Amino acid sequence: MTCRIVVLASGNGSLFNALIDARDDELSIEALVTDNPKAGAVAIASRAGIDVRVVDPANFADRSEWDEALTAAIEEFTPVLVVSAGFMLVLGAETLAAFPDRIINTHPALLPAFPGAHAVRDALSAGVAETGSTVHVVDAGVDTGPVIVQEAVDILPDDDESTLHERIKVVERRLLVDVVRRIARHGLAVNDRKVTLP
Ligand code: GAR
Repeated sequence: MTCRIVVLASGNGSLFNALIDARDDELSIEALVTDNPKAGAVAIASRAGIDVRVVDPANFADRSEWDEALTAAIEEFTPVLVVSAGFMLVLGAETLAAFPDRIINTHPALLPAFPGAHAVRDALSAGVAETGSTVHVVDAGVDTGPVIVQEAVDILPDDDESTLHERIKVVERRLLVDVVRRIARHGLAVNDRKVTLP
């Protein structure tokens, strides 16, 4: 059976593009939902013939109205799985309640180290020898949800934020596509913060 997926993305969309490339009988990308009308991901979706919904916080009176509109935009496509792939805003209570344990996120660090919007810069500033990629289930915190899979990436002596981030994204794209495919085939069970992914 085909797994209906809605992708959330705010930026360039290279992770979104990897999911598009992975489409087949098992994986169907139903829509891109973004907060950012200028996101590169919007152009990628248009080229691929994928529906786009823009839910820009600037157009809403407060966070709760934005949360409600974002939830409605996702629900329109009745997804089995919601994939946050470079979505830079924290999801609200209504969105989380609508898709319990069905929203996953990819983050460019080995969580719980370096959560938040500047994970790559923070890892470089901390002087650690390695960082990496984490795919996790989204909960109400900032990058605090149960971890599905992680992989380390070495930090090289002459790395800057851009070179390091690009190497992490190579790993992220592979891990994300693999996790999404496994969820499409077998589902995802979360018990007591422990994730079971066959
Ligand atoms: C990825 O590294 C993703 O993990 C990160 O944004 C990048 C998106 O890349 N997300 C976060 O930092 C969320 N806190 P892309 O626009 O090339 O797909």
